Amino acid sequence: MKMMYNASGVRSMKKTLSILLCFVMTVFVLAGCQADSGKKGEPSLLLGFSQIGSESAWRLGNTRDIEEQAENYGVSLMFENANQKQENQIAAIRRFIAYQVDVIAFSPIVEDGWDNVLMEAKEAGIPVILVDRDISTEEEDLTTCLIGADFYKEGVMAGEYLIRKADSLGLEHLNIVEITGTDNSTPMRQRQAGFADAIAGDERMEILESIDGDFIKSRGEECMRSLLEEYGDEIDVVYSHNDEMTLGALPEIEKAGLVPGKDIIIISIDGGQEAIDVLKQGKINCVVECTPKLGKEVMETAIRLKAGEKVEGVIHPEEKVFSDEMNLSEIGPRGY
Ligand code: AHR
Repeated sequence: MKMMYNASGVRSMKKTLSILLCFVMTVFVLAGCQADSGKKGEPSLLLGFSQIGSESAWRLGNTRDIEEQAENYGVSLMFENANQKQENQIAAIRRFIAYQVDVIAFSPIVEDGWDNVLMEAKEAGIPVILVDRDISTEEEDLTTCLIGADFYKEGVMAGEYLIRKADSLGLEHLNIVEITGTDNSTPMRQRQAGFADAIAGDERMEILESIDGDFIKSRGEECMRSLLEEYGDEIDVVYSHNDEMTLGALPEIEKAGLVPGKDIIIISIDGGQEAIDVLKQGKINCVVECTPKLGKEVMETAIRLKAGEKVEGVIHPEEKVFSDEMNLSEIGPRGY
């Protein structure tokens, strides 16, 4: 059948087509909004976040998670990396105050020395969230909450693993060396205290030396070299406060002709992918998990603070122990 169109027919067809096009475009725009919304529908908020640095795979994973969750929750993020310097963190917090951000979050590299800058934030009426690490202060209400791991419990879990390991091997005496994280930082203090308390009642355990490895791989390497020079094959256990330092220490043990995981029991903390792979190879015996995935809680807390709501004082994520006591093939990809 042949279709016939006159001028007015063409005009009315054009009109129908343009109405149809408008309708289709509206549907696309609405669909786009819906796909984009979800958590992004939350009130807009400017969050200033001061990160410690890039010292470990954990820290890089934490930064990535904060950035991804800010995006996910529609939070505008002013991110500053302090490159391991407290003075850079203090300067970043002052910039956030000058910029009048809605909420400040930061991971304090050490516990002391924050009172003045946090007082300035308080006077400016900007709520502050502590992420990952705590501060030590006599002042009241400088911060609203702490979102981070229970480092003391991590130390306890490391100590409890060691007691079980000593039992299973029937060991009568264990010489322990401890490679600690950054001096005066919360994870260093609490991982040390938790471990010491857990093994305190066990007379088989002796800590030969605790040495500062600053959470950095090259320092872990140096510390292990000097511990081996000092104690040689007297060392039965290395308790290292993070994966990075553990991964630095292992080659030094091998260079000294010892087999990590067999001649020396290796205990680490974090649970990043590289350390878990080495655990599966048998060169690490135990890794206590410390998750860097704190971004979701940080964003939700910041949104609540901006809305003037009360928030929980301390939020600790759930954490596990990965060790040679378990079926290691069950451990999935770690994501950091
Ligand atoms: O504060 C958390 C610790 O800091 C992690 O264990 C470590 O890897 C990081 O650098």
